Amino acid sequence: MDNKQPSIFDLIVEAHIGLERQGPGSSQMTVQALSFIGNLDKISRVADLACGTGGQTMVLAQNIAGTIIGLDFCPGFIDIFNENARNLKLQERVHGIVGSMDNLPFDKEEFDLIWSEGAIDNIGFEKGIRHWNGFLKRNGYIAVTCPSWFTDERPVEIEKFWGDAGCELDTVGQNVLIMQKAGYIPLAIFALPEECWTDNYFAPREAALKELSKKYAGNKTAEDFIESNKYEVELYSKFKQYYGYVFYIGQKI
Ligand SMILES: C[S@@+](CC[C@H](N)C(=O)[O-])C[C@H]1O[C@@H](n2cnc3c(N)ncnc32)[C@H](O)[C@@H]1O
Repeated sequence: MDNKQPSIFDLIVEAHIGLERQGPGSSQMTVQALSFIGNLDKISRVADLACGTGGQTMVLAQNIAGTIIGLDFCPGFIDIFNENARNLKLQERVHGIVGSMDNLPFDKEEFDLIWSEGAIDNIGFEKGIRHWNGFLKRNGYIAVTCPSWFTDERPVEIEKFWGDAGCELDTVGQNVLIMQKAGYIPLAIFALPEECWTDNYFAPREAALKELSKKYAGNKTAEDFIESNKYEVELYSKFKQYYGYVFYIGQKI
């Protein structure tokens, strides 16, 4: 047994740092979202906010010209992000920095495209897209995924699970209205398919959790964390028709 007392943050990082993606998604869906975005060239500037270790960032870089700056508040993720960029020989165009997505360290109207997969709900969809609007050039693009309600019916178990995690989900329609009010033309909205959760996220995370379970056997914080992750998988399997990640793509007016 390991005597270290990990915090929840330590456990989240440890469970995710070795994964290609730290949340639901896929290269195919990243490319599909990109297909709605035009006018990117060698001088385009892109920000990938809460980029994690950069699974989606590297896909973006392989499909567009221009430079990409990744930002995440977890230094360990950013170290791997920059290592991944070097391994793929993308380091001239792709660079990761530590920072907070609700207090961006960038210039006003600096970017042609702001990307963010699986993270905006940590600060709230509305707060995020309003704050980020100021950093986009006029006619610049935004592409984010956010967990959203597909229906007006809200099973209490899911509402509680996301609420306990500090995230308020809105319906897809509500988020489109929020986008419009925040100064974007909604260009495309689509839900991520189930395998983005099951095959691409839950399965690799499950393997990482098994390792954690051995390393921290008997540690209550770790055991509760692992149980909560298992419960998330059960909830998704039971209620996936009610909620899921949705890609929102818009253009700044
Ligand atoms: C579900 S992961 C998604 C990572 C990556 N975009 C992906 O799709 O694989 C959420 C990410 O948000 C980051 N994060 C959460 N809150 C943040 C904040 N306020 N500022 C910057 N990063 C944040 C976490 O460190 C984590 O990398």
